[in-house]
Amino acid sequence: MIVRVCMGSSCYLKGSYKVVEKLKEIRDKVPGMKIYGSLCLGNCSKGICIEIDGEIVSGVNEENVKEIFLKKITTGK
Ligand code: FES
Repeated sequence: MIVRVCMGSSCYLKGSYKVVEKLKEIRDKVPGMKIYGSLCLGNCSKGICIEIDGEIVSGVNEENVKEIFLKKITTGK
C-alpha cells in the first residue's frame, strides 16, 4: 500500500506534516505500507489531500486520518 501526502503549500499550511506523523504510527502495523510526500494533488481547496493506492482523499486532518485510512484498508472505500 502506497500513501502519498500532499506537501504542496496549501496542504502544508493546513498541517500535512502532522498527518504524516499519524500515518507513521499506522505504518508500523501495516506490512508493506509506504509513505511518500507529493507535490500538489490538485485539490487545494479541499485539502489536506492524501492519495491511497492512487485514489485521492480530501479533507484529511490529524484527527481523522487514522479513521479514514483504516476504513480504506478494511472496506476499500
Ligand atoms: S496543495 Fe495539496 S492539493 Fe494542492
